[in-house]
Amino acid sequence: MGERLDVGDRLVTYEDVLATDTRKVPQHILEESRGQFDWSEVSIDKYISRDWHEREKDKLWKRVWQFVCREEHIPEVGDHIVYQIAGMSYLVIRSAPDEIRAYPNACPHRGRQLKDFAGRCTEIRCRFHGIAWDLNGELKQIPAPWEFPHVDGDDFRLHQVSVGTWAGFVFINPDPHAEPLEEFLGELPEHFAKWDMANRYVEAHVSKVLRCNWKIAQEAFMECWHAAATHPQTVPYAAFGVCRVDVYDNFARLITPSEVVGPMMPWDPTTEEMLRATMDIREDEELPLKPEPGETARSFIVRTTREKWREFFGDRIEEWADCELVDNFTYTVFPNMMPWGGVHKLCYRFRPNGDDHRSCIMEVFTLAPFTGERPPPAAEIKLGADDPWSSVPALGIIGNVLDQDTANVEKVQYGLESATKQTVTLAAYQEDGLKWMHERMNQYLEAE
Ligand code: FES
Ligand SMILES: [Fe+2]
Repeated sequence: MGERLDVGDRLVTYEDVLATDTRKVPQHILEESRGQFDWSEVSIDKYISRDWHEREKDKLWKRVWQFVCREEHIPEVGDHIVYQIAGMSYLVIRSAPDEIRAYPNACPHRGRQLKDFAGRCTEIRCRFHGIAWDLNGELKQIPAPWEFPHVDGDDFRLHQVSVGTWAGFVFINPDPHAEPLEEFLGELPEHFAKWDMANRYVEAHVSKVLRCNWKIAQEAFMECWHAAATHPQTVPYAAFGVCRVDVYDNFARLITPSEVVGPMMPWDPTTEEMLRATMDIREDEELPLKPEPGETARSFIVRTTREKWREFFGDRIEEWADCELVDNFTYTVFPNMMPWGGVHKLCYRFRPNGDDHRSCIMEVFTLAPFTGERPPPAAEIKLGADDPWSSVPALGIIGNVLDQDTANVEKVQYGLESATKQTVTLAAYQEDGLKWMHERMNQYLEAE
């Protein structure tokens, strides 16, 4: 039999799962950080109104720390990317070996975007009239200087946007009065320290257009009790319905206990059935790896995963608790970045699609450990609204799961556009991450 934990009339908690761990569980995982919410309704205006989108542009995207790229995307001096958010554009450039700068992607002369694409350059030269700046944003050359006797170089330097880095991720904040990124992230880097995201590389990067507001898409990944209806093939091996939801200042997390049977599983699966579901093995195929006698699905996955990751972490992998090798730690860094912790490699990002509030771009990065020299980051594969995630082999079985998720989100947009009920109603606990998100966003949108 499998490892059912919702015995009798008792709903199992994640603490019961952690009590079975064979290693020391990190304190941040042991400690719950439960939100206190005495409300459940969210106005549908947040998803369908243009006015709300305009407020997000002014009060959120121009004022918040946001993930723009990985450091590995701009490894050499002069390497740059163009980051776009809600119709606005920023140039992010490595200006020195240990320095990244960001500027509004707008020429101080008559406003043309300074760079149209990612690339490498030795100067920042506008394509309209050819005025140039050095990588530090100092005015370097005006092709017809006699036309600008009234301009002094200082007025014409590129304005800087705040830049911060954490674990190989590059962030910008257009607000010149922004708190430092370190303060914004709080204890997040401590949670991720052992998981070592800095020493990972972009193994795959896939983006897809979705016909819905960016928050509808993101919120579909911030709870997972939808799995029983949306991803029934995953229910034998993950305890959906008893996920732990922790909220902090600027991040939140959802922990899904894996390889234990939860309350949404209607029958007791065997260990083999759990492993077949985990590995997506067809009925007529043999399990490629078999548990040893007496092993549970959870202890089997812990053992095999620890051995697999020993290649990258050596004996340090002995310090990883079982939970870090098997459970799903899905973090949300406010407002729109979702890095997974532990051995998981996923990181999502959600943005409005250009200036359209009824369309968004969801990106999936897989961040893999490596040995030896850092492999180059994978180029972005861009999927249109009708291209399935499962058309990208690099995503493996995740592609099918993402297709199931994204099949819902545009139907939510259509539903909300036609609704006469003016709110969506959030669940009592499993959707606390969404409540945290909306409270945080309200604080930004209500700020002066
Ligand atoms: S707009 Fe850039 S040089 Fe004129
Ligand atoms: Fe899902």
